Amino acid sequence: MLTRPRLQNLQLLPGKMVRLACGVLTLIALPLASYAQSTSKPIPSIEKQGEHFRLLVDGSPYLMLGGQLHNSDTSNADDLNKALDVLAGWHANTAEVPIYWEAIEPKQGQFDFSSVDLAIQAARKRELHLVFLWFGTWKNGESHYVPEWVKRDKQKFTRVQGSRGEETEIISPLCRAAMEADTHAFSALMQHIKSVDEAQRTVLMMQVENEPGLFGTDRDYSEASNHLFDGPVPKELLSFLESHRQQLSAAMAAVWNQSPKSGSWKQVFGELAPEAFSGWLVSNYVNTVATAGKHEYPLPMYVNVWLIEGVERPGRWPSGGATVNVLDIWKAAAPGIDILAPDIYYPKFYDVAAQYTRPDNPLLVPETNFNPYFVAFAYTTFGHFNGIGFSPFGIDDVQKGGAPAAIGSLFEDAYGVLRPMLPLIARYQYTGKLHPILQGLANGEDWKESIRVGDRLAANIDFTATFDPAKGRACGMIIELAPDDFVVMGTGFDVTFREMEGPLRDAQLISIEEGTFQGDHWMPSRRLNGDERHVSLPDKSTILRVRVAR
Ligand code: DGJ
Repeated sequence: MLTRPRLQNLQLLPGKMVRLACGVLTLIALPLASYAQSTSKPIPSIEKQGEHFRLLVDGSPYLMLGGQLHNSDTSNADDLNKALDVLAGWHANTAEVPIYWEAIEPKQGQFDFSSVDLAIQAARKRELHLVFLWFGTWKNGESHYVPEWVKRDKQKFTRVQGSRGEETEIISPLCRAAMEADTHAFSALMQHIKSVDEAQRTVLMMQVENEPGLFGTDRDYSEASNHLFDGPVPKELLSFLESHRQQLSAAMAAVWNQSPKSGSWKQVFGELAPEAFSGWLVSNYVNTVATAGKHEYPLPMYVNVWLIEGVERPGRWPSGGATVNVLDIWKAAAPGIDILAPDIYYPKFYDVAAQYTRPDNPLLVPETNFNPYFVAFAYTTFGHFNGIGFSPFGIDDVQKGGAPAAIGSLFEDAYGVLRPMLPLIARYQYTGKLHPILQGLANGEDWKESIRVGDRLAANIDFTATFDPAKGRACGMIIELAPDDFVVMGTGFDVTFREMEGPLRDAQLISIEEGTFQGDHWMPSRRLNGDERHVSLPDKSTILRVRVAR
């Protein structure tokens, strides 16, 4: 059950019952709503120009430097506030906060948005933006966040049947009543967010469901579902796959190239058929929910994905979620979803990030390991993949002290230098002038790395920190502001700039300054010369501006 907001929040949020356009009664928080009428900013949006994507917030490109709270935090005001304090302390700019269908619609048609208002107030107090995670029909491929009135009524809200005829607790993607109920609740939520946040735009994006799909089975084996599975694959899906055959994921291309391209799911998709079938049903369902929500308030919307890790079968991950196997089916069925976003707990971060960076999909990492090894991937996400967001999961673990607190310090250190640089990094995305640096393991990248920067120079990087995945590793970025002007940021490495033309020599260093950016303005804090005349980043993250002779 939702814990009522504490006294302080109740005073902030005197409510008023109002009737929404969709006919339901809802509690509107007056101070938020009345403030909403006083100013106006453009609604956050995803802009696509050719193959380049930008998340626009207040009209400017925005990179989400975020963190995700634990699942139950929004049910308790103290937990929520403490978790947001962690993110504010790190200089994160965005909090990903779960909100629960069961808390928002405890009785059918009666809405309680106090948890939503509480999160918005708490975020504003700390100047954080919010991404709301809609724990609706599906959460990790199960249905534990549906309200009690859905849980209890199995006749109306039908469940997935497993392959041995067993009943599961998962709402079936074929259940129209559930889809309509979820859609209704999500629409009411979006209408509420609009009413309280239209002016300030604290909420910048919505995650629709959470790792949707069917956990523990590859598809629904109910009679109705079997009938559809044996029937023909819908024509619109076939024609989408055919017209997009050049850009299909490798997994789907392998199937499609061998496929007869019409017939039953089994005939068209072979072994992939159960997952493809589930992908089609789940993506259509989620698209219906998202599209109705956007109709009320068109924030960008994404779906997060439980990835395939290792050699496994669908059902070990929520079958029908937007894995690489069926990502193209989601693109066909769910135009209301702007981004398919991988939850990257998998150490092969680059492989996954590459699969989800496509001309029809920007990289957003809504969840990643809260672990020292993963800190460096913030640079990878923004610098290598032109990604729009990065967010470790379960950041409030730092409050336990000990090892989690030490991990928190690593994120705090990296975020501290990334945050002021985000507008500049956003500006240089897609230009080839961002060069992320991360200490690896495979081919000696635990010692050295060498990067070509611009036409004329090489940056030879020597890692000064010992590679230790448990304690953190060197990471950072070089940004080419001009052929003779660089930002070098990060921790744990030295850089030597070498001339790649003319006589063999190092580049002549004109100046090295420590400092930071405020918008476009460089704010030097120390000029390094004499004994300190080195491009050397210590074990605390630093920003240097390095000018070399032309
Ligand atoms: C992925 C889910 O999306 C999160 O809500 C959370 O359950 C994490 N897994 C836990 O690792």
